[in-house]
Amino acid sequence: MKPLSPRLKKWLLLAVPVILALAVFVRYEFEHTSTNQYCGYTCHIMRPAYESSFHNVHREEMNVNCRDCHLPEENLAETLVYKAYSGARDYYKNTFDPPDVLRTTDWSRDIIQSNCIRCHQTVVEHINISGGKLCFECHRGIPHGQWYQPFSSEKIYTPIR
Ligand code: HEC
Ligand code: HEC
Ligand code: HEC
Repeated sequence: MKPLSPRLKKWLLLAVPVILALAVFVRYEFEHTSTNQYCGYTCHIMRPAYESSFHNVHREEMNVNCRDCHLPEENLAETLVYKAYSGARDYYKNTFDPPDVLRTTDWSRDIIQSNCIRCHQTVVEHINISGGKLCFECHRGIPHGQWYQPFSSEKIYTPIR
């Protein structure tokens, strides 16, 4: 193998710690911005979602957190992309274009659905769910109960199709 040129060595010497530090930072920020406290309490707009999930079996007894339902779990790349996208979108919307009602997007609904199935595989594997109904179209109150946005009289849930 050709020896590394001194120039390249110098760059590597600089780049490796920088990349490591960046990785540690991203990892730390990922965890920090994925806690229930952060997701539910940083913006007032999320507070009803946070509070309404307190007394649900998922949170109260089983310690299922926001991220367990709302973040993709199967693929790290998708998790990072989705988290960056939805975080940025939430900040933008909340600051410049506050919605009347918070609703899930198609993408976030797919993610929630696959997380329901991920954890409840044994219960649902013998049920035919190819009819296209989502778990939470029937299990309406999970985990947020029948909450309303404080700034709107509309329910947050996707209307039942
Ligand atoms: C057990 C799974 C589960 C957990 C845990 C959970 N959610 Fe949800 N969340 C849902 C479902 C299901 C909906 C309704 C989706 C629909 O009807 O389109 C929803 C809807 C929402 C919405 C409105 C739509 C949107 O995506 O913007 C917000 C905001 C929200 N959740 C925030 C939170 C926060 C904050 C936490 C943690 C405190 C949390 N959720 C924990 C399943 C969950
Ligand atoms: C991280 C794992 C996890 C995720 C994600 C999850 N659950 Fe659960 N869920 C549990 C556990 C654990 C229990 C309590 C033990 C049990 O009943 O299986 C539970 C309980 C339940 C129950 C029975 C208790 C009740 O509150 O009525 C239903 C129904 C349910 N989940 C539906 C859902 C739906 C719908 C979703 C998606 C929105 C979902 N779960 C997402 C782990 C999860
Ligand atoms: C067509 C409506 C419907 C759909 C769609 C549906 N469920 Fe159910 N589910 C029910 C009914 C009804 C029961 C029995 C009554 C109950 O315990 O709430 C039930 C029971 C359950 C239970 C056991 C509850 C307990 O008390 O132990 C779990 C867990 C559950 N469903 C999860 C899911 C998941 C995950 C999905 C999505 C793959 C799903 N369900 C889709 C209607 C539905």
